[in-house]
Amino acid sequence: MSCKVIGEFKSVTKRFGATVALDGLNLKICHGINGLVGPNGAGKTTAIRLCFGLIKPNAGSAKLFGLDCWRDSYTIRSRAGVLYEKLAFYDNLSGLEQLKLMAKLKGASNPLVELKELLRLVELDEAAYDRRIRGYSAGMRQRLGLAQALLGNPELVFLDEPTSNLDPLNRAKILELITILNKEKGISFLISSHILPELERVCNNFILMDKGKLLRQGAIGQMFDKDSTTKFIVKVHPVKPVATLLKNEVCIENLSIVDDCLHVSVRNVGLFKQRLPLLISQANASLDEVKMVESDLEAVFKLAVKEA
Ligand SMILES: Nc1ncnc2c1ncn2[C@@H]1O[C@H](COP(=O)(O)OP(=O)(O)O)[C@@H](O)[C@H]1O
Ligand SMILES: [Mg+2]
Repeated sequence: MSCKVIGEFKSVTKRFGATVALDGLNLKICHGINGLVGPNGAGKTTAIRLCFGLIKPNAGSAKLFGLDCWRDSYTIRSRAGVLYEKLAFYDNLSGLEQLKLMAKLKGASNPLVELKELLRLVELDEAAYDRRIRGYSAGMRQRLGLAQALLGNPELVFLDEPTSNLDPLNRAKILELITILNKEKGISFLISSHILPELERVCNNFILMDKGKLLRQGAIGQMFDKDSTTKFIVKVHPVKPVATLLKNEVCIENLSIVDDCLHVSVRNVGLFKQRLPLLISQANASLDEVKMVESDLEAVFKLAVKEA
């Protein structure tokens, strides 16, 4: 994996009573945009809270910038920002007042112009700067939370499910903003989500976890292209001769006939698309329809679990 490592978990275990939230978790946080992906209860929030020294691991080592997340949490908090899953604001304050207060608590010396610059950067409507947060929409609260996470010029910002309460348009906008911040300011991010396809476009490193364990980690190519297959449903007439020919193709992992349709798992989509028309004409068959069954988070998980 080509990745400039800025954080690493080695066999990190965290128990809450009888619940094992993190179970020997290994992961690397890379320079760039990291996606921490897993279903609800996987341990994403626990992992993030642990990074900031809010909880102490029972075993293992968790480091950011080469510093220990528990012992050196004070220094880590001055170099990293975070947007927690449950946004808590002082609803009676205005956006700008909230930011001023948090800057003070963080010991960040952002002057007023810089705070306004931050709000402009996250594209919060300027008319809202001096309005009470209580009247903000979900999208506006998320933007304010992002501005708060950016206080003190952090090198790395953690965003715990930053888009979970947003509509698709606002989701896309927040992700676009994160990409811009990464490109223009060189800030690295770790975004947690239970929706993998959403992060596909923006992340250069994916950390897939479930039940407190790492399932797999790497770039998107390593998630889908190499190891996993893409499923297609092909309607052809007659179906049997095409199936016979397709079976011998190297791009095919698996093939079956269901309701007179071919269900194929394809290893190499490009090659499959090249070969299919040739084989159909060889078999004197005619093609009705080819449908791709999208490879989704569940498919990746099933595969990863199977491999584990
Ligand atoms: N403070 C806590 N006390 C007890 N159990 C907890 C606590 N925090 C998390 N857990 C449990 O740890 C597991 C992982 O939770 P969490 O990290 O919130 O997962 P995720 O963010 O991926 O949804 C869950 O089973 C959750 O119930
Ligand atoms: Mg969570």
